[in-house]
Amino acid sequence: MGNYRTVKYPPTAFWEVTAYCNHNCVHCFNYWRTDEEVKACMNKSMDTSEYLAIAEKIIKNQPARVIFTGGEPLVAFDKIKPALELLQENKISIAINTNAALITREMAEYFVRRRVGLFVSFPSANPEEFDRIVSTPGAYERVVEAMDICKDVGVIFSFNMVVSRINLHSIFETAQFLKERYGANLISITRVSEPINAIDRFDEYMLDEGDFAVYLENCCRVSDELDMKVKAASPITPCSIGTQEAYDLFAFAGGCEAGKSSYVVTAEGKVRACARDSKEYGDIQKEPFADIWERMSEWRDESMIPTECSGCEVREVCRGGCRVDGLPRKCKYNCLDTYSDLKRLPLVFQKTSEYLPRWNYDTYFVVQEYLRFVEEDFGMRISYRGNHVYCTKAFAEYIDSFRGKGFTLDEFSKKFELELDVARQALKGLRDKGIIQSSDY
Ligand SMILES: C[S@@+](CC[C@H](N)C(=O)[O-])C[C@H]1O[C@@H](n2cnc3c(N)ncnc32)[C@H](O)[C@@H]1O
Ligand code: SF4
Ligand code: SF4
Repeated sequence: MGNYRTVKYPPTAFWEVTAYCNHNCVHCFNYWRTDEEVKACMNKSMDTSEYLAIAEKIIKNQPARVIFTGGEPLVAFDKIKPALELLQENKISIAINTNAALITREMAEYFVRRRVGLFVSFPSANPEEFDRIVSTPGAYERVVEAMDICKDVGVIFSFNMVVSRINLHSIFETAQFLKERYGANLISITRVSEPINAIDRFDEYMLDEGDFAVYLENCCRVSDELDMKVKAASPITPCSIGTQEAYDLFAFAGGCEAGKSSYVVTAEGKVRACARDSKEYGDIQKEPFADIWERMSEWRDESMIPTECSGCEVREVCRGGCRVDGLPRKCKYNCLDTYSDLKRLPLVFQKTSEYLPRWNYDTYFVVQEYLRFVEEDFGMRISYRGNHVYCTKAFAEYIDSFRGKGFTLDEFSKKFELELDVARQALKGLRDKGIIQSSDY
């Protein structure tokens, strides 16, 4: 009990292509930022051939997507382009985490041509607050101008607002600004995490319990009043949530993927489980990835789950939330997540069940042409543009045989001998990941 299924080919690789950044966010979790020694090397990045060599190693591990990150990855844009293109030629979907400040029209056009999606850090709609958070005068103006260009040329992007005490009260106005100016229907609103080496200076930024409740309340407001889909880029544990509305929004919405379905390659080619953590498990240039992944098994077994969670009914799914939360203060991985509250056990809220599409037996489903199939010991992974599902081999073969064509719900349910609602549920899973499209909505 408590062991997470081990995949051979983790679907997501984060690649920190440089440690250097043109901004200096007060909240940044890049643990090397205050280390003087490492700071001295921050301007260094690899050359194109070194990036290509690492890309080749990553390709062997068959990820569905690679997310370029850093530091600021666009600092090294010209040098990483050939590696990015090589990954794409190998059917790997690419996204870039960026502060957007360096984006030019030429770069934006490149992103459109190559279908590269951006995940843009955007801390506030208030210019002074924005510049203060990123410690860079004029940054707000530059980023807004860059995003205007992105919108103009049709880049695919979404935003991430990291919420600390500085911008806690700007959540709604920031989301509203991003919706009105850029047509954003989706926003990640992420509670700030304490960098592992920053406890002395972090008290003024870290949300306390009361602030966390305000954060949740504002996320619900954005979802309700602005009709935006709200996500969070860090796990939010069910026992940290005190209202039904926030429970529906966040409970089980995004768990910790580190060492389970994702890993991080550093600017030196080392491999970590989590971007926030400094622990390295090997060197992707020097040893087989399978050995490194095996060394990371502590992220998949029981050892990191807090003992306090032992009586909790959702322990197997929640696994205690963010496993790095306890590191700055308690120096161990198996601490309760910062906002988890055992007084909320047993959990009183139930997640309102998601609406199941009322597809009937005649509903027709078209299967995407451009799908990628990867075999695991327990079945298959099907991915489409960075999204994936796991399924049995027989199911994957069925989907594969309909690429670019389609089937009806009736044919599908007969083939796998499924009741109507079970078939709807299975097809909804594929529809939500873009693998199939239904003829209705
Ligand atoms: C470290 S940044 C690197 C990429 C790029 N420079 C950027 O800002 O998007 C990766 C992501 O981590 C988020 N982030 C940084 N520090 C954080 C913190 N302390 N807590 C939560 N998220 C954080 C950023 O907003 C960004 O979305
Ligand atoms: S822009 Fe990104 S990498 Fe740079 S300091 Fe901010 S969060 Fe950190
Ligand atoms: S008690 Fe532990 S497993 Fe249960 S919801 Fe809280 S953090 Fe998650």
